[in-house]
Amino acid sequence: MKNKNLYIQTFGCQMNVHDSEQMAELLSGAGYKLTDNMKLADLIILNTCSIREKAAHKVYSQLGRIGILKEQNPELIIGVGGCLAQHLGTKFHKKVGCLDFVFGTHNIHLLPEIVSSVKKKRKKITEVDFHKALNSISVFAPPQRNAVSAFVTIMQGCNNFCAYCVVPYLRGPEMSRPSDEIIEEIRKLADLGIKEITLLGQNVNSYGKNLNDGSNFTSLIKKIVKISGIRRIRFTTSHPRDLSPELINCFAEEEKLCKHIHLPVQSGSNRVLELMNRGYTVDQYIKKIDHLRKLVPHISITSDVIVGFPGETKKDYQETIDMMEKIRFDSLFSFKYSEREGTAAQKLKGKVDEDEKLRRLEALQMLQNQHTLERNTELEGRIQELLVEGRSRNSENDLMGRTSSWKIVNFKGELDLIGKLMNVKISKAYIHSLRGKLP
Ligand code: 5AD
Ligand code: SF4
Repeated sequence: MKNKNLYIQTFGCQMNVHDSEQMAELLSGAGYKLTDNMKLADLIILNTCSIREKAAHKVYSQLGRIGILKEQNPELIIGVGGCLAQHLGTKFHKKVGCLDFVFGTHNIHLLPEIVSSVKKKRKKITEVDFHKALNSISVFAPPQRNAVSAFVTIMQGCNNFCAYCVVPYLRGPEMSRPSDEIIEEIRKLADLGIKEITLLGQNVNSYGKNLNDGSNFTSLIKKIVKISGIRRIRFTTSHPRDLSPELINCFAEEEKLCKHIHLPVQSGSNRVLELMNRGYTVDQYIKKIDHLRKLVPHISITSDVIVGFPGETKKDYQETIDMMEKIRFDSLFSFKYSEREGTAAQKLKGKVDEDEKLRRLEALQMLQNQHTLERNTELEGRIQELLVEGRSRNSENDLMGRTSSWKIVNFKGELDLIGKLMNVKISKAYIHSLRGKLP
């Protein structure tokens, strides 16, 4: 069978990045080989995101360009998966005429079948049902050659229904994978040379709730640390309400658990947090941070913030700024509120205008840059352990590694260091990276 070329473009979060790896694996069994060049593709898949309107716009403009390729090559097969596909379902075909198939967040395992029926019947297909949910996350995607770290999905879906968020509608209810299946997958990855794994889920802290076998997120981590070969464990994303004291203790007790937590706070105003249905107050959030920092003084804390949520006043916004000054995050992902169809926030009054949202966002980002630089500068002169991931993006002659705290360090070193854990001395801090030297 002659190999066909597959081009996958991923939009959005790490969950999507990992889903795309699984798509590539499934389709390799059907004779498709990944290409970086869209023009050479026989099959193009866009793995879409719809968390904010901007993400959806990017998908539509890319589909515009792909439509032109299809005019030149009518044999080209085009599919869309991921959150926007889940949201639109058959409507996607009406909006974008060149599509051959639309598949949802729970239907990845059906891809080979879908592609084969498109080829045979040349008819448009839509698969967006939520049944067979766990089938989709049980596909083993072997790591790329020379990869040092890998993602492992431990759960999918979310039951939180934060007022602004479409995820619970598009990824369905929370569902955890049995822990033996996860452990087996991580063992396989370790055998293939993977040193670091990132456990993925929309709300990893509620891992195990639907399993009824007594397992929870902390017990899962305690099993993973025993797997030889795995040197580092990370996870994302956590919900502040569900971050348990046991998990906080785990950071102090388990050497392999990286000293970084991404803990999205969303706002520094209690009034807005309540409107968002987040289930904690700013004080409760800060208490958890204090606890983490007391046990692990250099732990790195990153977060997400939304500005311009409906009803956010200048005073509420100022409270977010005050909270940032108090906490001083290592880095922060900040977004303008984007209205999403079907969410509770869509019905709220007091919409903030776009210019005002932009002003709030820019001022907040300037402040965060100062804090990031300040936190990074604290590392100057210190020895940090890195896992060396590969060549640096900035210079051919440099290598790049990450600290346990998730910071990028560029340094001069030989290629055979890739995949190793090693110490470097931090010589200079910047906003987006650090410079290091071998001791
Ligand atoms: N508008 C803006 N930002 C959003 N996020 C989620 N939904 C929206 C929305 N409708 C942000 C939150 C979340 C991150 C992944 O995306 O900050 O933590
Ligand atoms: Fe969305 Fe809230 Fe669930 Fe995160 S916890 S995925 S923000 S609903």
